[in-house]
Amino acid sequence: MLAGNWKMNKLNRDLGPFFDEFAQAVGLDRDEELTEQVDILFAVPTTLLALAARQMEPRGIRIAAQNIHWEAAGAYTGEVSVDMIKEVGVTATLIGHSERRQYFGETDETVAKKTTAALAADVMPIVCVGETLAERDGGQTAAVVTRQVQAVFAQVADPKDMIIAYEPVWAIGTGRSATTAQAQEVHALIRGLVADRYGAKTAETLRILYGGSANPANIDELLAQPDIDGGLVGGASLKPQDFAKMVKAALPR
Ligand code: PGA
Repeated sequence: MLAGNWKMNKLNRDLGPFFDEFAQAVGLDRDEELTEQVDILFAVPTTLLALAARQMEPRGIRIAAQNIHWEAAGAYTGEVSVDMIKEVGVTATLIGHSERRQYFGETDETVAKKTTAALAADVMPIVCVGETLAERDGGQTAAVVTRQVQAVFAQVADPKDMIIAYEPVWAIGTGRSATTAQAQEVHALIRGLVADRYGAKTAETLRILYGGSANPANIDELLAQPDIDGGLVGGASLKPQDFAKMVKAALPR
């Protein structure tokens, strides 16, 4: 899976031109089986969800929200529920992105609640975890990631189509990607935690994406790692040509 995270970027008027150029570059119109070989997803700002879903879901490209609230409805000014994103045709959501943890008070507890709400509504949660630079330098990477993952697993009996994204905070938007060895090591750790909680079969199929300065130049090497099943891409997903190159890198050869 190649997932783009647009963060707080782009307007509705950008969607048509972006997707036309992306579809052309990736060969979506020439190769009808493309989206059976690689899952393509874009997590877009709330105001873009309805139009993006209408344009792209019929073409096999999934549209995701970047956040949801865990309650179905109520007095939560400024928030959006899972039913609200579903109503406009959205089938997935990011949960617990490090920017939400860092700037908006997201905790392991709220991440777990949101994941439960998404799964209950049959919306695919992409749960983001990852250590800060201070935590890595302090030798805390495994402990932090284990804590973040287990907080979710404790509340989830059946992970269904849950996806986990490992995104070291120090690699996000910095141009400094984790080395493939660093990424693979944490991905293997996460897969082990999945196996411990849900069994070997689920561990084989549950997808773990890498995020943090993934780009056309390093994606091949990242995807070649045994426990990296795809990418969650910020900056490079804003450029249709770059993201198309990354999607192509994920195609089976
Ligand atoms: P980046 O962002 O690719 O720009 O580092 C990744 C992310 O935050 O999902």
